Amino acid sequence: MPRKCRKCARPAVINMRQHKLALCAEHFPEWVVNQTERFIKKYRMFTREDRVLVAVSGGKDSLALWDVLLQLGYQVDGLYLGLGIDGGLGYSDESRAMCEAFAAQHPETTLHILDIPAAYGESIPQMAARTRRGRGKPCSVCGLVKRHEMNRIAHDLGYNVLATGHNLDDEVAVLFQNTLNWQVGYLARQYPVLPEGDGFARKVKPFCRFYERETATYAIVRGIDYVYDECPFAEGATTIYYKELLNKLEADKPGAKLHFYLSFLRARDKEGLFANWQEEKVELHPCENCGQPTSAPGLCTFCRMLPEAVRPKVKLAHPLTFTPVHT
Ligand code: AMP
Ligand code: FES
Ligand code: ZN
Ligand code: ZN
Repeated sequence: MPRKCRKCARPAVINMRQHKLALCAEHFPEWVVNQTERFIKKYRMFTREDRVLVAVSGGKDSLALWDVLLQLGYQVDGLYLGLGIDGGLGYSDESRAMCEAFAAQHPETTLHILDIPAAYGESIPQMAARTRRGRGKPCSVCGLVKRHEMNRIAHDLGYNVLATGHNLDDEVAVLFQNTLNWQVGYLARQYPVLPEGDGFARKVKPFCRFYERETATYAIVRGIDYVYDECPFAEGATTIYYKELLNKLEADKPGAKLHFYLSFLRARDKEGLFANWQEEKVELHPCENCGQPTSAPGLCTFCRMLPEAVRPKVKLAHPLTFTPVHT
């Protein structure tokens, strides 16, 4: 028998077994918005005085996050980085189109776009093919470029908070991987908010306690169009293998992922796990090319990776501002 919404008895669009909660198309989005506000406050992510830049990939999580933050009345704009990833289907083009379509429906917000191949003369796969860091797979180069450019653009445009759409499934897969390898430094830094400082924007993950199926249901119920496909290079990635393992666990024990993640946060916050952990203090200097903080003398890792011919252009590579067209 189809379940009924706990609040109004209409047919439910989702049943969240871990919360013993089924909700309808009206009450579920409302619940997501209220829960997000609760997480933002609980982890002291930001307030209505902060300027928030949400990194949008065109996927369900980041577009849903942008939508929720707008509903909550935060000062929030979007940033899309065009990575030049094709995969035979125009993956990057489709992702960008989804972000543009969302922005066009929301006159109160701005979408900033930086196209990496246009700014630096090479797509992510081309950079990966030219450099050792790539080793045939562009994911590591991609991560480096995204981190650098998100931080640089947030700084250049005066946003002090950078939000990403990481969900519970993402966070738990990383937590599991870091625990299997006992990577204490990574574990100590895995938290819903990383403070700003030394030229780095504050990084926040307001959706870290929502399951992927919850963010997907939210996007669908709210009529947000998003890219369904994963990045074509993600296939075979270790985190995907861990996600599959954890999905099996979740199927047998509903709520297991949420329990694993929340117990980790509790051990950290209440029981002092990592309280004595001291991050190795490294001296930071501004990169000679882009001005961002780096521990390496001279150029930062990102600038060192760029083809020499385009290095002086980095400072000029400001993002284009997308002006939504309203019909
Ligand atoms: P992923 O690493 O692809 O799982 O993405 C994690 C988060 O990074 C997303 O939820 C977005 O917030 C952000 N992100 C990923 N790709 C892009 C992109 N091309 N442009 C802007 N933000 C992105
Ligand atoms: Fe960056 Fe796939 S390699 S999103
Ligand atoms: Zn209802
Ligand atoms: Zn640099």
